[in-house]
Amino acid sequence: MYRSRPKDKLDDHVLRFLSSMQHDQAILYYDILGSEAHSIMLHEMGHLTSGELEKILSALEDAKKNPNRIETEGYEDIHEALEAFVIKKEGMNAGGKMHTARSRNDQVVLDIRMKIRDDINDVCAALASLIEGVVQKAKESKQAAMPMYTHLQQAQIGTFSHFLLSYAYALMRDMERLYLVYQRVNQSPLGACAIGGSSLSIDRKRTAILLGFDSIVRNSIDATSSRDAFLEYAATLAIMTSTLGRIAEDFIIWSTTEFGYIELADRYSSTSSAMPQKKNPDPLELIRAKAAIVTSDLVSMLGIVKALPSGYSRDLQDVKPPLLGASATTLDAIRVIDGAVRTLKVNKERMRQAASTSYAIALDIAEQLVMKKKMPFRAAHKIVGALVDVAASKDNLPLAKLQVSDIVSVLKAQKVNVKPDELMKIIKEMTPEKSLEARKSTGSPNLKEQEEMIKSLSQGVSNYKIGIQRRTRMVQGSFDNLGRAVMKYLQS
Ligand code: ARG
Repeated sequence: MYRSRPKDKLDDHVLRFLSSMQHDQAILYYDILGSEAHSIMLHEMGHLTSGELEKILSALEDAKKNPNRIETEGYEDIHEALEAFVIKKEGMNAGGKMHTARSRNDQVVLDIRMKIRDDINDVCAALASLIEGVVQKAKESKQAAMPMYTHLQQAQIGTFSHFLLSYAYALMRDMERLYLVYQRVNQSPLGACAIGGSSLSIDRKRTAILLGFDSIVRNSIDATSSRDAFLEYAATLAIMTSTLGRIAEDFIIWSTTEFGYIELADRYSSTSSAMPQKKNPDPLELIRAKAAIVTSDLVSMLGIVKALPSGYSRDLQDVKPPLLGASATTLDAIRVIDGAVRTLKVNKERMRQAASTSYAIALDIAEQLVMKKKMPFRAAHKIVGALVDVAASKDNLPLAKLQVSDIVSVLKAQKVNVKPDELMKIIKEMTPEKSLEARKSTGSPNLKEQEEMIKSLSQGVSNYKIGIQRRTRMVQGSFDNLGRAVMKYLQS
């Protein structure tokens, strides 16, 4: 339909190569709304008669209700197919005017902005639910003592809730980033036309308002050439899915027989075709993989836009699949992990057993020596390290099971003036519970701190929920208003 200069029609293979039709299905709805708003504005500015507008709107409403009536064969993209549909249905005299003062270059980026605006609201809402689920689980496991790990080696005593709250904080930062990107996405490029605007009088602010945008992307080159807001969005998703990957990885490790700290619900587990005993964490493993996929979507997008000349180039079409893919993949991953967290079983006894037989109390013991004996930390570190060395050589005996004679020889070797009985008492008293109680610093896993963190995270997430709902209502409200304006023209 667009071929005014070329005499020959496109080679079939080239047409297939050029076509973005497959991925355009996701933006068709927005293309219709954008076309309605644009046509109303054209009428208001005197470029379409009421009769012409009515015809165009009636075809667009038909397309909205029956999208499968739009012929897609033989067209380069959905923009061409939709315009052809309108022209075929209402004739060239009316339909042929729809594309006045517009180009596919401002049109496609308008559609994607509207789509991503909705996606951000959906991802934010899913993320809010996930954070709520994680915090709820934390409330139920505030006192579930377990080892914490560095280098995957037992490090200090913590609680399961402390891990969960650490995820919630990271997810809250993902939320903050995502919430901010919205403002940069929610600006209308429509009316920038091909690259340099139009000599016809158009009202860009009017179409922006009709479509629920906060403002317009002012510069027409910027409006048609820039994809940075989408890159920022995809980068945010890549960071977010890497957070999800970390959560998934922790859960995978802790659900092994060797750890046995948690058990995934049957509904979130897969099995083996061969080994009947298997209960595998496949959904979580896929979340790990999705983090890589979303990252690669971002890298594809960056690679495509890096150093493109200003002004639309067809390369930009290929930004769409990874962008839409990153959205869909992230949304899926959030929903799966949300369900997995809410339904997982916490095996508190197993966690406590691991904590109580662990050398993860070593630092607490050293700190007791610092506090009670005013010992330099370095000296305390040496004593406790030597005690652990002795205990470990006795088949990993817990420190509390050391003999007084072991303690005496360690103290003698380290040349410190501490009574063996006193040290024995410190060691024996250092249960996982005592360790948690003694950990006083802000943000540590003691009960009071857990409760404070739960409170502040719950408050934070409910504030975001209000903002997300307000944004969603604003978009929906502007679409409802647009729908009413369309109906008014169609009924007059
Ligand atoms: N299908 C194209 C895309 O997705 C639409 C814009 C085409 N513009 C052009 N000047 N060829 O980006």
